[in-house]
This record gives sequence, structure tokens and C-alpha cells, in this order.
Amino acid sequence: MASKSLCFVLLSVLVAYYIYKPLPDNIEEKWKVMLMDATFRSLGHLSTLAEMFGMKHYMDVMMLLTFAEHTEPVSDDNVIVKDTSLINVPVRLYMPKGKSNTLRRAVIFIHGGGWCLGSAAMKPYDLQSKQAAHVLNAIIVSIDYRLAPKFHFPDQFNDVYDVVKFFLQEEVLKKYSVDRNRIAVSGDSAGGNLAAAVAQMLLHDPEVNVKLKIQVLIYPVLQSLDLNTPSYKENANMPLLSKTLMVRFWSEYYTTDRSLFEAMMSNKHIPSQDAHLYKYVNWSTLLPENLKKNHVYTVPDNQNAFFVKKYPGLLDVRASPLLAEDEMLTGLPLTYVITCMYDVLRDDGIMYVSRLRKAGVHVVHEHYDNTFHGIILMNTWPFDISLSHRVVDNYLNWLDANL
Ligand SMILES: *[C@@H]1O[C@H](CO)[C@@H](O)[C@H](O)[C@H]1NC(C)=O
Repeated sequence: MASKSLCFVLLSVLVAYYIYKPLPDNIEEKWKVMLMDATFRSLGHLSTLAEMFGMKHYMDVMMLLTFAEHTEPVSDDNVIVKDTSLINVPVRLYMPKGKSNTLRRAVIFIHGGGWCLGSAAMKPYDLQSKQAAHVLNAIIVSIDYRLAPKFHFPDQFNDVYDVVKFFLQEEVLKKYSVDRNRIAVSGDSAGGNLAAAVAQMLLHDPEVNVKLKIQVLIYPVLQSLDLNTPSYKENANMPLLSKTLMVRFWSEYYTTDRSLFEAMMSNKHIPSQDAHLYKYVNWSTLLPENLKKNHVYTVPDNQNAFFVKKYPGLLDVRASPLLAEDEMLTGLPLTYVITCMYDVLRDDGIMYVSRLRKAGVHVVHEHYDNTFHGIILMNTWPFDISLSHRVVDNYLNWLDANL
């Protein structure tokens, strides 16, 4: 009996120790955040084990969460939800039910998940897209692009680009009663990366006549040149995206070859011969003083050109939108950027805000100083936290007023 209770106490302590993670003071609903983080972390550990024993690729196990959160397309009183495909790429469409006398607005949404995970059908995304369709009385096209490790860059980009380009044709817009002057592209995390890359490419594509009115970049990932920015250093172990996981996502986007991951972890994947590109991601000039703190700016000193030769995506602006020259940025649509304080990608987003503004692009920057990467996904039971809804409501209100 005594030994049983002792076991129970020990086990509880172990579980608590595993779940407990010191979090910054201003994070709200800490216990829910810790639970969500612990769930995600244990899935990560399971994935590592499965990979170690050669049973499954890390990301194949991580995909269990995406499958667990899968929802069927369910229409409600306000919105018709339908899975279909556009130009052979699967999409989930959300169409408002009420009759409209005028043409509708449209948002093309690109989900996150590090180019490896996630889907339009995941409960948090599905819920938000439905909400967006209703609140904005807009068509939402949520794209299910192909994922790594089965597919690598530029497949993800190409899928998304193909859908956007197809949708922006006059006949297609007419079919869905969409106003050609009121279309936005939006994405979170890796989806924000794809949204930013798509917006840049569209601008210089002579085959596209319809322009985007808005791009929304929700804590986007925007460059793989420097994986040691102050935000990478400070937030390496914050929920829900650790530095290790982000670097793993990056390396999987390019290749399944693990040596690239190792090189990227030590920030030794870009050779000195490409050092001229660092000016585009120089946080020393592109971040405000309060975020630079005592960090010292250095350009990696590395002679190994092996990776950039083998994986030219490493220097491709379609993978790292921050590598675009200033002239490439001029003319981009009105931009709404969300960044979070406790996020390895914070500085990517803020550097892009600086660069866009310098190029004359109108940017609305919403910085949340009390939260972490992935906050918009915490909108469903049992990890439903109120800030998640506030962030999305703010973004949708802004879209409603500006799209
Ligand atoms: C980055 O910016 C600093 C100034 O803040 C400058 O001294 C340095 O040369 C820059 N480095 C690159 C690679 O652009």
C-alpha cells in the first residue's frame, strides 16, 4: 500500500516536472499553455524515438496531430464548406450562404506547419476559415499543398502559386462572384512564408492581371540565411516552436539529408562567398534598439559551399522572401504583419516590416509582447485560450475594414 502511494507520488512529480515549464510572467493562462506544449513536446519525443529506431520519419509521427485534428467539411447556417481541387491542388472552400447583391471579397489562406505538417482541415484552421467567411462575407480558399518530407522546395511554393494564379483569372473570379479588387492572401508561420513569396512573385508575373489588395503574414518565417538572430537565441525553448524544430522544418523543406540540419543548427550552411546576401537579413540594422539588447552581430565565417551548391533553394527568394532586393518589394500590397515576442521567428517578421516600409509598402504591424508562436492554433478544447481568439478577431476586424 505504502509503496503504491509512493509510486503514485513519484509518478505525479515526474509528470508535473515534465509538464512544468517556466514561462514569461506576462503569458496568459499558463497551465493550458504548458499542457499544450507538453503534449506537443511528447509527440516530438515519440517522433524522435520512432526515427531513432528506424521505424518512421520524424515528421510522419508528428503528422498524427494533424490527423487527430482532422474535421470533415461541415456547412452551417451561414457558410457552405466544400473540399474540391483547383488546378489539381486540393483546397477547402468556404462560401457564405446569404445572397449578396454585390461581388464578394476573397481570402486565399495558406496554413502553417513548417512545410511538413498541418492541413486546411485541421480543426483550428477550419474554425477560423469558417469564421472568416462569415464575418467578412467572403470566399475563403484554404490550400492543401503537398508537404515534406515527401515533397521538397519548390513543390510547396508551386502548389500554392498555381492555385493563386488560377484563382486570379477573370473567369474563375466570375464563377465565384468575387470582386477582382478585393482579394487577400493570408498565412501563418510557413503559410506566411508562402504568402509572402507568392505576393512577391505575382508582382513580377506578366501573366497575372489581377492584383492582390492585401497580404496578411501571421508570425511568418522569412529567411534561412541566419538562424541565430536575437529571437532565435532568446526563444529557443519557448512553446510551441523550439529552435530545433524550426531548423528541422527548414532543413526538411530543402532535403531529408540530415547533414543539412546539423549545419543549419550551427548556422554554418551559408558560405562566405554569399556573405553579400546578409545585408538583407542584417538584424543589426533592421531591428529596433530594444530588441537588439546586448546581442552582438556577426556574419558566419564558413568556407563550405557544399550545401548551397547541392540545395540552391537555400539562396532562393521563393524560400526566403527577405532575400528580395528593395526593388522587388516596391509595389507589394497593403501588408498586415503579426509578430510575437516569445517566438524564434519574431525577428524575421520585424525585419520584413522594416524592409517593406523602406521600400514604400504600407505596413500595419501588430506586435503581441505577451505570447508565443502558434497562438492562433489554441482556439479549440482543451487548449482554448482567450488571447488566441482576440488575435484572430483583431486580424479579421482589420481585414473587414481594409479588404
Ligand atoms: C550589418 O549592420 C552593421 C551596422 O549595424 C554593419 O556594421 C555591418 O557591416 C552589416 N553587415 C552586413 C553583412 O550587412
